[in-house]
Amino acid sequence: MSNQSPDEEIEFLRQRVAELEKALEQKNQLQQELEEYKQINTELEKQLQKTEEQSYLYKMIIDKAIDWIFVKDKNYRYLLVNDTVAHSLGKTSEEMIGKDDVEINLPTEIVFGNPDKKIRGFRQDDQLVIAGETIHNHYDPIPCCDGSFYILDTKKIPLSNSKGEIFALLGVARDITDRHQAETELKASETKLRQRTLELEQTLQQLRRTQSQLIHSEKMSSLGQLVAGVAHEINNPINFIYGNLIHANKNLQDLLKLLSLYQKNYPDSTPEILEQNQIIELEFLQADLPKLICSMQVGAERIRQIVDSLRTFSRLDQASLKYVDIHEGIDSALMILEHRLHHENNYLPITVIKKYSNLPLIECYAGHLNQVFMNILVNAIDALEGIGIQNSTSEIPNPQISITTKIVNPQEIIIHIGDNGLGMSEEVRQRIFDPFYTTKPVGKGTGLGLSISHQIVTEQHRGSLNCISSIGKGSKFVIKIPIHQQNAD
Ligand SMILES: Nc1ncnc2c1ncn2[C@@H]1O[C@H](COP(=O)(O)OP(=O)(O)OP(=O)(O)O)[C@@H](O)[C@H]1O
Ligand SMILES: [Mg+2]
Repeated sequence: MSNQSPDEEIEFLRQRVAELEKALEQKNQLQQELEEYKQINTELEKQLQKTEEQSYLYKMIIDKAIDWIFVKDKNYRYLLVNDTVAHSLGKTSEEMIGKDDVEINLPTEIVFGNPDKKIRGFRQDDQLVIAGETIHNHYDPIPCCDGSFYILDTKKIPLSNSKGEIFALLGVARDITDRHQAETELKASETKLRQRTLELEQTLQQLRRTQSQLIHSEKMSSLGQLVAGVAHEINNPINFIYGNLIHANKNLQDLLKLLSLYQKNYPDSTPEILEQNQIIELEFLQADLPKLICSMQVGAERIRQIVDSLRTFSRLDQASLKYVDIHEGIDSALMILEHRLHHENNYLPITVIKKYSNLPLIECYAGHLNQVFMNILVNAIDALEGIGIQNSTSEIPNPQISITTKIVNPQEIIIHIGDNGLGMSEEVRQRIFDPFYTTKPVGKGTGLGLSISHQIVTEQHRGSLNCISSIGKGSKFVIKIPIHQQNAD
């Protein structure tokens, strides 16, 4: 038995009960808290699962994106790469994470650049982005695992933490290799097309030149035939006149001598004779007739020279390569142009200064070459008359054409034909050999003279035809041709 009093025992029991009640209360409270913790835990587990699902989704999205996506830290080491990057470089993302571009074995020139090959290197871009810039590089070549190159269009942006400090860079790059290749091919085919167009244009131009030359040479050959025909027709009667003039002169002298003998031996003539004497003014007649015959002889001589020149000029017998005297050709052209060199009125006479060297015979197509001299001489006369020259109002005070011939070397001769006309501007000078280029009024110039002459000299005779000219300083045409054609190669 206890030695406590009943009251004490009751008190003790009351206290125990109170303690048990408190403990029970605490237990209930703990149970409640446990319930709450369990709920929170379930909630957290749910959230964790959701977060895991979401991050898996994000990773999937990033990995499956067709663009290259990567994140590099401040030391340019990969923090993230998507599958597109890893596969394209023939690696796994695990092999790349934590390494920089050199460590994943990209060529150093691609990383650090190579000015000789015009490769910029993307480390330079990375540095700028880590320093805070956003970079958009439209042409970013990267080598791929099979040795070929990707061309990327890359955008890189800095990534900052909550304090605004840059800790990494995000790169998003689009593979534009196909587009770039298509563009390159397009450019190449455009260039090819342009080249082809140019070739076609040149062929067309060549055809036009050939056509115009054909027309022109056809015209010249008809003209040549006509000239040769006319010259031939005139040649016979003029020879006839010229030949008979000598006899006519001799006969006339005889007759005049006989007449003076009559006058001397029979001074007392009949009134009828005296009257007739006065009517015909016998004394004047006696003095004038020899002069008349003489001037007829000069005229006939001139006609003979012209006929000769026409024949030399047309040179129908020399349509093939032959050795000829070039000076004869120039002189025949000058003879034909005589009427323009010495105008009766309108223009001052043009002086022709000839400085001919002792040239050998030149192997050439004489008819064609004469045509060249003719074209250049006509142009010179036109220039001295101010035809087709812009702003030409003043007359040339002392119009001159100078012709010089020289041997340059044992194989070549040179012919200078110059005038002291108003010359031409550089713009005109550069175009004078173009077919159909003329500054002359419609009907006066076809613009073919020099283009055909150029062709005759350069293509037919393997020579050169150049022009030196400037405004106010006249013009000089320089013709260089080989002495021999057939063995010139
Ligand atoms: N001696 C020159 N002085 C100044 N300009 C000249 C001279 N020779 C040629 N030219 C310029 O060159 C252009 C072309 O000459 P080209 O002989 O080819 O044609 P064109 O004389 O105009 O016509 P055509 O077909 O009748 O000869 C002339 O229109 C003229 O402007
Ligand atoms: Mg001309």
